[in-house]
Amino acid sequence: MGKKISVAIDGPAGAGKSTIARRLAGELGYRYVDTGAIYRTVAYFMDLWGVSPKDVDGVNRYIDELTIGIEYDDEGVQHMIMNGMDVTADIRTQEIGQKASLISAHAVVRDVLLDMQREMAEQYDVVMDGRDIGSVVLPKATVKIFLTASPEVRARRRYKELLEKGQKAKYEQVLKEVQQRDYQDTHREIAPLKMCRDSVKVDTSDMTFEESVAAIRKIIEEKLAK
Ligand code: DC
Repeated sequence: MGKKISVAIDGPAGAGKSTIARRLAGELGYRYVDTGAIYRTVAYFMDLWGVSPKDVDGVNRYIDELTIGIEYDDEGVQHMIMNGMDVTADIRTQEIGQKASLISAHAVVRDVLLDMQREMAEQYDVVMDGRDIGSVVLPKATVKIFLTASPEVRARRRYKELLEKGQKAKYEQVLKEVQQRDYQDTHREIAPLKMCRDSVKVDTSDMTFEESVAAIRKIIEEKLAK
């Protein structure tokens, strides 16, 4: 088996990483790995057991009880399996995202998930998105993208998304959550979100979805042509 191609896409919450990464993976025929979903599964599991995401001892005690599976359906959609149960839909709430951000700061959690992520990249060509893919998980990734947008633009997109889903939301509140998550994800001690020196920065504040996909695709193709 030859060396696999890996595209690492890191960036703050709400930058559009998952939609863009999924689309690119589809176009390139690679596997899309949403690593945030893995952290969300841990957060969801701890939540079910009433363990606070800040409770280091509690998280350490319960983590061994959790078996995480990742499966892909015929459309290439990633499903998260928690102790045999498909929790793909359950983990997609603001609350679990916020708890995942806190839980991801624990060393034991990051250690357990690290091998899982690396194994995926050893087996398949991947587009993997997260916070520390280029810096820690796949430091030798073929292409590293740092995908970002201003907090206001990210909050506005998220706010629109919530309204479209029929959920109640206040823009100011969404913006506050975006800023809080940025702070947590960039200030944690282990594997904080930061741009690597060999990453290419793509700021999508003034780009449409299609423009963002095209821009990143161009970066990937140029790198692969070398
Ligand atoms: O991308 P997301 O919103 O689904 O991620 C949820 C949280 O998980 C995020 O706020 C921080 C954490 N995370 C991480 O620490 N490292 C990753 N590679 C992916 C996510």
